[in-house]
Amino acid sequence: MTVVLRSPQEFKQWRKKQSGSVGFVPTMGALHSGHEQLLKTARAENNIVVLSIFVNPTQFNDPKDFEKYPITWDADLKMAQNNKVDAIFYPHAPDMYPDNYRYKVTENEYSKTLDGAHRPGHFDGVLSVVMKLFNVVSPTKAYFGEKDFQQMRLIQGMVESFFMNLEIVPVATVRESDGLAKSSRNVRLTQEQRALAPAIYKAITTSKTADEAAQALSAQGFKVDYVTDIDNRRYVAAFLGEVRLIDNVQI
Ligand code: PAF
Repeated sequence: MTVVLRSPQEFKQWRKKQSGSVGFVPTMGALHSGHEQLLKTARAENNIVVLSIFVNPTQFNDPKDFEKYPITWDADLKMAQNNKVDAIFYPHAPDMYPDNYRYKVTENEYSKTLDGAHRPGHFDGVLSVVMKLFNVVSPTKAYFGEKDFQQMRLIQGMVESFFMNLEIVPVATVRESDGLAKSSRNVRLTQEQRALAPAIYKAITTSKTADEAAQALSAQGFKVDYVTDIDNRRYVAAFLGEVRLIDNVQI
């Protein structure tokens, strides 16, 4: 049975009664097969599996993006039940920010590059909410997709820096058959944009340089935020209409 717990206090009460390892998958809902892969990995490695669903307002630098973030509770619950999730933590925003976001977690180097350079405050919001979620859930391991590679690395860094007692487990990006990385934002693409979107993966895997990939995408009508190579990894962020897509691959 999957229980749904709505406040941090209620969750902590439930958590006290659990024993064994806890695998945690933090999400903003609108679950897809990329999230399902995280749930399956967590299920295989732990006694208890916890999923959180919280569209975190502090990580959206663009209010329109926040308003349009898809909410698919019924399908999310079904996926959780099908994957034998023990508990869903599904909090309300005021309960997660009793201080009105006076306190936050900030990283001052890596978080200011790539996505951080284009989305001011985004990673402060991510790190702060993930710290809060970890403190409520007390997981043994937490599972993050490599599609958000910079996010995953920043969270690993936070866990090390603050001597937090859990392991971060990276899970490989899940792709559509045409190469497009699975993302909750894909449902917002029009049919025409969806047909064009796999060009992102193609450009970053076939171009010789980051500049060449950026040019190929611009020529096809993408508004490119960046294509950058760092430490044998190529990162991209580009808009199709109002939808911002990101991806990365090892090179
Ligand atoms: O990757 C996400 O869905 C979010 O950034 C996360 C980690 C759940 C924090 O809100």
